[in-house]
Amino acid sequence: MKVLLTGSNGQLGRELTRQLKEKKIIHVGYDIPEFDITDKEKIAAIINKEQPTIIINCGALTNVDGCETQRDLAMAINAVGPEYLAEIAKAQDIVLVQVSTDYVFDGAGIKAEGVLRPYVETDPIDPKTVYGESKAAGEKVVAEIAPKYFIVRTAWLYGDGNNFVKTMLDLASKNPKLTVVDDQVGSPTSTVDLAAAIIDLIHTDHYGYYHGTCEGQCSWYDFALEIFRLSGIEIEVEPVTSEQFVRPAPRPKYSVLENKALNDLNMNHFRTWQESLVEYLENLK
Ligand SMILES: NC(=O)c1ccc[n+]([C@@H]2O[C@H](COP(=O)([O-])OP(=O)(O)OC[C@H]3O[C@@H](n4cnc5c(N)ncnc54)[C@H](OP(=O)(O)O)[C@@H]3O)[C@@H](O)[C@H]2O)c1
Repeated sequence: MKVLLTGSNGQLGRELTRQLKEKKIIHVGYDIPEFDITDKEKIAAIINKEQPTIIINCGALTNVDGCETQRDLAMAINAVGPEYLAEIAKAQDIVLVQVSTDYVFDGAGIKAEGVLRPYVETDPIDPKTVYGESKAAGEKVVAEIAPKYFIVRTAWLYGDGNNFVKTMLDLASKNPKLTVVDDQVGSPTSTVDLAAAIIDLIHTDHYGYYHGTCEGQCSWYDFALEIFRLSGIEIEVEPVTSEQFVRPAPRPKYSVLENKALNDLNMNHFRTWQESLVEYLENLK
């Protein structure tokens, strides 16, 4: 097994690199500008040289608001890039892992007996943002072209990079009081748990769609309170609605994913979001 990581300097790319190294799995990591997934000739040359058996595509344009005003760039990186990788994977019999997002769903949730239930892998997608559209297009081309693919959707990801946890800690150090949205619900997910799940999957041939998020759910407000509680920070936090905190791209109100496909394989080892957060904050110290 030899793994080639794209977007290896991103949050997930860094954690995958760490765990692949720890598990002594042969791997190489690439990121822009050397490995730009929108440049097919360039990436084909590198893949020919490296001869990986698995490509994990962590390369993406993840700035949800930025995507709204840069549709062409979002489509190029999140859809055309994966298409090129899928074509190369098909031609060279390489397994392709495409990391995707909760934003492919409509974010309104699905009601079962009057109560919202988490999205499962087979639920219909209906993205409401340019980011979501571009990631959905990326999933589609990978599934259509690459014979051996894993599409792994995650959400509310934090790791070694810019993320909500670090933003909250930073804001708390500069402000006496914060306002945080309380009507958007999801599952904060550590890159540690997600990387481990991806590495487990690539040791199997159970190709297909997967959800990979930490267990449990909360609002951004609940998430912020837990970050401050665990960090011993006393600060006033006021819950606000999405309408009071308007962003260029609409945010999903309900973005909870169930790791059903992993559960069905007895491969769901994601911890609760609170457990993973404790570890993350310990490591930040
Ligand atoms: N972050 C989240 O909350 C979240 C939630 C759900 C799903 N996801 C998905 O999870 C995956 C990993 O996310 P992440 O948080 O690790 O993202 P990230 O930290 O933004 O990392 C993405 C990496 O891709 C690189 N990149 C940008 N354009 C590229 C190109 N044309 N070719 C190759 N690489 C390129 C980025 O470089 P620059 O930084 O220099 O641009 C960055 O190093 C993505 O597929 C994302 O859509 C993320």
